[in-house]
Amino acid sequence: MLNSIAVMTSGGDSPGMNAAARAVVRTALYEGVTVWGIHDGYHGLLDGDIYKMESKDVGDIIQRGGTFLGTARSKRWRTPEGRKLGYKNLVDRGIEGLCVIGGDGSLRGASLLSQETGIPIVGLPGTIDNDVWGSDYTIGCDTAANTIIDAINKLRDTASAHRRVIVLETMGRNSGWLALVAGISGGAEYILVPEEEYDLHAICEDMQEAYKKGKRYILVVVAEGAGNGQEIADYIAKETGLDTRASVLGHIQRGGSPTVIDRVRASQLGEQAALALISGLSNIVFGFKEGHVVSIDLHDSVNNKKQLDPDYIHIAKVLF
Ligand code: F6P
Repeated sequence: MLNSIAVMTSGGDSPGMNAAARAVVRTALYEGVTVWGIHDGYHGLLDGDIYKMESKDVGDIIQRGGTFLGTARSKRWRTPEGRKLGYKNLVDRGIEGLCVIGGDGSLRGASLLSQETGIPIVGLPGTIDNDVWGSDYTIGCDTAANTIIDAINKLRDTASAHRRVIVLETMGRNSGWLALVAGISGGAEYILVPEEEYDLHAICEDMQEAYKKGKRYILVVVAEGAGNGQEIADYIAKETGLDTRASVLGHIQRGGSPTVIDRVRASQLGEQAALALISGLSNIVFGFKEGHVVSIDLHDSVNNKKQLDPDYIHIAKVLF
């Protein structure tokens, strides 16, 4: 049974991180356990930017995007010396366990800390990319997908008005999940993801045929890992002669008030993470499988690559 734990957010922020951290803090306090917040991810852990939290510190944040704790990507954390210093900063304060909310890179950093020092670590998957192995879901992916849908709806209006091809580039790093789900639910004609090969020349021929048959406009959603939106739009314009534009959504996808799904799931995950840490469990990530909270081995999670759901890939092809 641990008596003192800490929580931090790390890597790219995602909507719902606040709800998760709030749940960790309030669950720990409910269990009578001291809880600390670490500012700015591993940067703050290295700099000792760590403070004791009370219930009111996590008031008025469940509805906010971003992360009230701050976040960062830390080069220093990638060195064993850095992680040793971070560990010392925890031990000096009597902190016995750490909850890290972040994407695969952040969870990898947490896994190394645990291997090197033995300190109990519980991870939560916090990233819009939905690319954490072992979980169907990551905190923030639902809000980001909804933000993209909103953009697609708007792009459809203007694409239709001008009979244009519009290429929308989404985030997702090496994962096509965001592009795929947003493309399916936004009714995109073509969805390009890094996990699937595509033939842009053949797509261009298809487009020309479709326009000949009276199609008014075409929407292409491309995951950033599958190509550059502007370059793909330039290629399409050159090959087809169709009026084509690119739109890169960028960091707008990372912000905004979290959806109900992200708030509820982040709260469930945060509660489970705190309870697990307090009971002395370590080296696990909590995620969702088929709608239920599951625990995943941290080492397995960071050492495996998540695949896209083949059913999604299939319907994207059938429904276009
Ligand atoms: O991992 C989340 C993510 O938003 C990716 O989709 C994107 O590739 C990357 O972070 C952008 O990172 P940065 O915050 O450095 O711009």
